Amino acid sequence: MQDAHMTVVRVGEFAWSTMEPAEGHFEFGWLDRAIELAAKHHIMVVLGTPTAAPPAWLTSKYPDTLRVDEDGKRAEHGNRQQFSFTSPRYREFAARIASEMAKRYGHNPNVLGWQIDNELAAPSFDDQAKHEFHEWLHRRYGTIAELNRRWTTAYWSQTYDNFDEIPVHSRNQNPALLLDWKRFVTDTWVSYLQNQIQAIRANAAPAQWITTNTMHWNTGFDHYAVHRVLDIAAWDDYFPDGHLDANLNAAEHDLVRGYKRKNFWVMETQPGHVNWGGVNASLPPGVTHEMAWQAVGHGADAVLYWQWRSALNGQEQYHGSLLGPDGTPVPIYAEVQQIGAEFERVNQALAKNGFGSLTDASPHARVAILNSYDSVWAIDFQRHTSKFDYVGQVTDFYRAVEPLAQTVDIVSADADLGQYAVVFAPALNVLPDATAKRLTDYVRAGGHLVLGARSGMKDVDNALQPERQPGRLAEALGGHVVQYYALDAPVPIAGTLGEGSTSVWAETLAATSPTTKVLMTYGPSQGPSWFAGKPAALTREFGKGSITYVGATLDKGLMAKLAVWALDEGSVKPIVAGVPAGVELMERSNGKGDRVWILINHGDTSQTVNGIDGVDLLTGTNVSQINLAGHAVAVVQPAAKR
Ligand code: GAL
Repeated sequence: MQDAHMTVVRVGEFAWSTMEPAEGHFEFGWLDRAIELAAKHHIMVVLGTPTAAPPAWLTSKYPDTLRVDEDGKRAEHGNRQQFSFTSPRYREFAARIASEMAKRYGHNPNVLGWQIDNELAAPSFDDQAKHEFHEWLHRRYGTIAELNRRWTTAYWSQTYDNFDEIPVHSRNQNPALLLDWKRFVTDTWVSYLQNQIQAIRANAAPAQWITTNTMHWNTGFDHYAVHRVLDIAAWDDYFPDGHLDANLNAAEHDLVRGYKRKNFWVMETQPGHVNWGGVNASLPPGVTHEMAWQAVGHGADAVLYWQWRSALNGQEQYHGSLLGPDGTPVPIYAEVQQIGAEFERVNQALAKNGFGSLTDASPHARVAILNSYDSVWAIDFQRHTSKFDYVGQVTDFYRAVEPLAQTVDIVSADADLGQYAVVFAPALNVLPDATAKRLTDYVRAGGHLVLGARSGMKDVDNALQPERQPGRLAEALGGHVVQYYALDAPVPIAGTLGEGSTSVWAETLAATSPTTKVLMTYGPSQGPSWFAGKPAALTREFGKGSITYVGATLDKGLMAKLAVWALDEGSVKPIVAGVPAGVELMERSNGKGDRVWILINHGDTSQTVNGIDGVDLLTGTNVSQINLAGHAVAVVQPAAKR
């Protein structure tokens, strides 16, 4: 590990049966030795609490700690994540192992921080969970009459007499119930984490941070809520088919950076290949290197690899590793070693240039894309067309905007938007009154808001708004949606932005104010059409800013034109103009004017970037232009401070 320039290792996240081989009997000697050995080689440690894999003695003696799936089947031992997230007994055991670990390592100077559990995932539908859901609903609604009213339970005779009658499901139920179940699951994961956070905090130095590792677009819970109780965000970055989608990966980093609106960790990356895809092809040579620097460019303060060495047996024998079962390096090791060497070189060069630590510098964006768990849930419960993919919408906007703005934040629809010149809100389906008010204030103060199709349809209870889309924003827009349509064939669109089409979703719009402009119109059709000549996008200046509603899912070309237009409205310029397509430029700055640029050629053929004036930190030379071979990386400290 030291030879590979590794400075941190994560351990312990599934090692419960080794840490506590029998109830109340703890064995940490092996972990003491591992931490000491790592320290001897200048490697810091992140400790994982092992609660994603309870030991057999625990679940066989206390089967009530095992999770029950939606169809009523209780989990068995032998896989992982088989615990019930509500079980009070499980929480007692979890708090105890976390507390024993923290008592032992909470003040160990070689322990940097904690990862609680591992990839929180599966909720339980056991009796305790049902009981707690009913109590949660009771607290939320106060009376059953209020719940009946807001859920419109008279429909299909769903009317409840008391909270205990309410079914507990995550599918085929009233949309309000489904949305509340997701919120309950979120709150339950929060309290699940808090249980261990309290145990650690009571025994650990404040400098040791606490996180958990998440799975990018996973919609199992609201990641913004969960991260309120965590110190930093961390995620696991995998491309199971071995093909890096650099644009998508960029969006995923920005999504994770948005959880706490600060730098994050990549807790796991694949060394070559995984073992859980359809075809577990390996990333080609050089792409692991490319991914590591891309992570740093988007605000990662650490990049870790899962896993170091193959376990001889167990479910993940085929997974990529840095060492083979014989304990010697496999080919990808050399690439990871190069990454480590480069991180070291860049850190040293920056320190010499008076920059301080790269971890004090972050990406700073003037453009944001909003992400709303309420909205993705609401749409996924009732997609109306299987082709409408919320994440696809967010990333369609991202793919068009990121190359132009070069830095983009993906943040919660509830985030403070003061710093942004332009905000995109794809499919902001659930629009609570408070959010509508904040967005209106944002526009009034000079912001440029672009809403995507399906926005402003639902209220906080997943009920239809009593006014047409975009609901409480219709007045500011000076227009509304007349009707929405799922499409089974493309519909042409034309207008000031150019020509293109929509093939997933189309909403016909109507302007209601003389100051509302039609930005795009549905084009002519051969046969009868709901669309021909009807507005597809409206825009209106409002206060000091503008509000735009795009009622269609746009094809790539039109989306790119929309992005150019919107960024122009907000006077957003790229950090460096003229960066060729396929080359990504990322900036981290520290608020004192110091900046670092990371440039990556994501394509296969070489490219030249002009207009660069600075020091190439990997070669130590002054540069005014950079030549990048396919998949190559440059790290530049620009001469001018900003
Ligand atoms: C992650 C998980 C790791 C390992 C890895 C394999 O989801 O956290 O423990 O299973 O996948 O790719």
